[in-house]
Amino acid sequence: MTIEEFATKVKQIRSKNGTKLMCLQEAQSGFGYVSKEAMKIIADEFDTTTSEIYSIATFYSQFTFVKKGKYVITVCLGTACYVKGSAKVLEKFEQILGIKLGQTTDDGMFTLASARCVGCCGLAPVTMINGKVFTITPDQVQETIDAIIEHDKKQNGGNK
Ligand code: FES
Repeated sequence: MTIEEFATKVKQIRSKNGTKLMCLQEAQSGFGYVSKEAMKIIADEFDTTTSEIYSIATFYSQFTFVKKGKYVITVCLGTACYVKGSAKVLEKFEQILGIKLGQTTDDGMFTLASARCVGCCGLAPVTMINGKVFTITPDQVQETIDAIIEHDKKQNGGNK
Protein backbone atom coordinates (compact mmCIF):
# COMPACT_ATOMS: atom_id res chain seq x y z
CA MET A 1 0.00 0.00 0.00
CA THR A 2 1.29 3.48 -0.84
CA ILE A 3 0.84 6.43 1.48
CA GLU A 4 -1.59 7.95 -1.06
CA GLU A 5 -3.71 4.79 -1.00
CA PHE A 6 -3.63 4.94 2.76
CA ALA A 7 -4.85 8.56 2.72
CA THR A 8 -7.76 7.48 0.50
CA LYS A 9 -8.59 4.62 2.91
CA VAL A 10 -8.57 7.04 5.83
CA LYS A 11 -11.02 9.31 3.99
CA GLN A 12 -13.28 6.31 3.27
CA ILE A 13 -13.18 5.17 6.89
CA ARG A 14 -13.99 8.69 8.08
CA SER A 15 -16.88 9.06 5.62
CA LYS A 16 -18.44 5.84 6.94
CA ASN A 17 -18.23 7.13 10.52
CA GLY A 18 -15.24 4.93 11.19
CA THR A 19 -12.88 5.61 14.06
CA LYS A 20 -9.30 6.79 14.42
CA LEU A 21 -8.52 3.36 15.82
CA MET A 22 -9.73 1.74 12.58
CA CYS A 23 -7.37 4.02 10.64
CA LEU A 24 -4.48 3.02 12.90
CA GLN A 25 -5.30 -0.65 12.29
CA GLU A 26 -5.30 0.04 8.57
CA ALA A 27 -1.81 1.57 8.83
CA GLN A 28 -0.50 -1.31 10.93
CA SER A 29 -1.80 -3.98 8.55
CA GLY A 30 -0.90 -2.08 5.38
CA PHE A 31 2.63 -0.99 6.30
CA GLY A 32 3.52 -3.35 9.15
CA TYR A 33 3.88 -0.35 11.48
CA VAL A 34 2.38 3.07 12.16
CA SER A 35 4.59 5.81 10.76
CA LYS A 36 4.58 9.51 11.74
CA GLU A 37 3.33 10.25 8.24
CA ALA A 38 0.36 7.89 8.67
CA MET A 39 -0.51 9.47 12.02
CA LYS A 40 -0.39 12.93 10.45
CA ILE A 41 -2.82 11.85 7.73
CA ILE A 42 -5.24 10.47 10.33
CA ALA A 43 -4.89 13.59 12.48
CA ASP A 44 -5.61 15.92 9.53
CA GLU A 45 -8.63 13.88 8.46
CA PHE A 46 -10.11 13.91 11.96
CA ASP A 47 -9.20 17.55 12.66
CA THR A 48 -6.99 16.68 15.56
CA THR A 49 -3.31 16.59 16.46
CA THR A 50 -0.71 13.94 15.68
CA SER A 51 0.01 13.65 19.41
CA GLU A 52 -3.62 12.67 20.09
CA ILE A 53 -3.36 9.93 17.45
CA TYR A 54 -0.06 8.82 18.95
CA SER A 55 -1.55 8.61 22.44
CA ILE A 56 -4.41 6.45 21.12
CA ALA A 57 -1.93 4.18 19.35
CA THR A 58 0.35 3.76 22.37
CA PHE A 59 -2.62 2.60 24.43
CA TYR A 60 -2.84 -0.59 22.34
CA SER A 61 -0.02 -3.12 22.21
CA GLN A 62 -0.98 -4.17 18.66
CA PHE A 63 0.71 -1.09 17.18
CA THR A 64 4.38 -0.72 16.43
CA PHE A 65 6.09 2.50 15.40
CA VAL A 66 9.24 1.26 13.80
CA LYS A 67 9.42 -0.54 10.51
CA LYS A 68 10.32 -4.18 11.02
CA GLY A 69 13.41 -5.73 9.49
CA LYS A 70 13.32 -8.05 6.50
CA TYR A 71 13.97 -10.95 8.88
CA VAL A 72 12.12 -10.97 12.18
CA ILE A 73 13.87 -13.22 14.67
CA THR A 74 11.57 -14.16 17.54
CA VAL A 75 13.15 -15.98 20.45
CA CYS A 76 10.68 -17.91 22.60
CA LEU A 77 11.08 -17.08 26.28
CA GLY A 78 8.28 -19.37 27.46
CA THR A 79 9.07 -21.71 30.35
CA ALA A 80 10.12 -24.80 28.35
CA CYS A 81 12.40 -22.76 26.10
CA TYR A 82 13.75 -20.69 28.98
CA VAL A 83 14.73 -23.87 30.85
CA LYS A 84 16.59 -24.99 27.72
CA GLY A 85 18.58 -21.75 27.58
CA SER A 86 16.60 -19.43 25.31
CA ALA A 87 17.67 -16.36 27.32
CA LYS A 88 21.25 -17.18 26.29
CA VAL A 89 20.09 -17.53 22.69
CA LEU A 90 18.54 -14.07 22.83
CA GLU A 91 21.66 -12.64 24.46
CA LYS A 92 23.79 -14.10 21.68
CA PHE A 93 21.55 -12.64 18.95
CA GLU A 94 21.72 -9.24 20.68
CA GLN A 95 25.49 -9.46 20.92
CA ILE A 96 26.12 -10.52 17.33
CA LEU A 97 23.54 -8.24 15.71
CA GLY A 98 24.43 -5.31 17.97
CA ILE A 99 20.79 -4.56 18.83
CA LYS A 100 18.52 -5.08 21.83
CA LEU A 101 15.21 -6.90 21.98
CA GLY A 102 12.59 -4.96 20.00
CA GLN A 103 15.14 -3.17 17.83
CA THR A 104 15.98 -3.38 14.14
CA THR A 105 19.48 -3.30 12.66
CA ASP A 106 20.38 -0.07 10.82
CA ASP A 107 20.46 -1.86 7.48
CA GLY A 108 16.83 -2.97 8.00
CA MET A 109 17.78 -6.65 7.80
CA PHE A 110 16.98 -7.96 11.29
CA THR A 111 14.44 -7.26 14.00
CA LEU A 112 14.77 -9.02 17.33
CA ALA A 113 11.57 -9.99 19.13
CA SER A 114 10.47 -12.39 21.84
CA ALA A 115 7.41 -14.52 22.47
CA ARG A 116 5.89 -16.45 25.36
CA CYS A 117 5.48 -20.01 24.10
CA VAL A 118 4.80 -20.48 20.41
CA GLY A 119 3.22 -23.91 20.95
CA CYS A 120 6.05 -26.26 20.09
CA CYS A 121 7.79 -26.73 23.43
CA GLY A 122 9.09 -30.16 22.33
CA LEU A 123 11.51 -28.31 20.03
CA ALA A 124 12.88 -26.03 22.78
CA PRO A 125 14.83 -23.79 22.66
CA VAL A 126 12.68 -22.37 19.87
CA THR A 127 13.42 -19.37 17.65
CA MET A 128 11.12 -18.32 14.84
CA ILE A 129 12.51 -16.64 11.77
CA ASN A 130 9.79 -14.91 9.77
CA GLY A 131 7.26 -17.26 11.33
CA LYS A 132 9.18 -20.51 10.69
CA VAL A 133 10.11 -22.55 13.75
CA PHE A 134 13.71 -23.64 14.43
CA THR A 135 15.58 -25.16 17.33
CA ILE A 136 18.57 -22.90 17.85
CA THR A 137 21.09 -23.19 20.70
CA PRO A 138 23.43 -20.33 21.67
CA ASP A 139 26.25 -22.05 19.78
CA GLN A 140 24.20 -22.03 16.58
CA VAL A 141 23.30 -18.33 16.58
CA GLN A 142 26.28 -17.17 14.51
CA GLU A 143 25.78 -19.87 11.87
CA THR A 144 22.06 -19.06 11.75
CA ILE A 145 22.75 -15.40 11.02
CA ASP A 146 25.35 -16.36 8.41
CA ALA A 147 22.84 -18.72 6.79
CA ILE A 148 20.18 -16.00 6.63
CA ILE A 149 22.61 -13.53 5.06
CA GLU A 150 23.69 -16.17 2.57
CA HIS A 151 20.08 -17.04 1.75
CA ASP A 152 19.26 -13.36 1.31
CA LYS A 153 22.20 -12.81 -1.05
CA LYS A 154 21.10 -15.75 -3.20
CA GLN A 155 17.55 -14.41 -3.35
CA ASN A 156 18.67 -10.92 -4.30
CA GLY A 157 21.27 -12.28 -6.73
CA GLY A 158 18.48 -13.50 -8.95
CA ASN A 159 16.71 -10.16 -8.91
CA LYS A 160 19.59 -7.83 -9.75
S1 FES B 1 7.87 -22.45 25.71
FE1 FES B 1 8.82 -22.10 23.80
S2 FES B 1 7.50 -23.14 22.45
FE2 FES B 1 6.56 -23.42 24.36
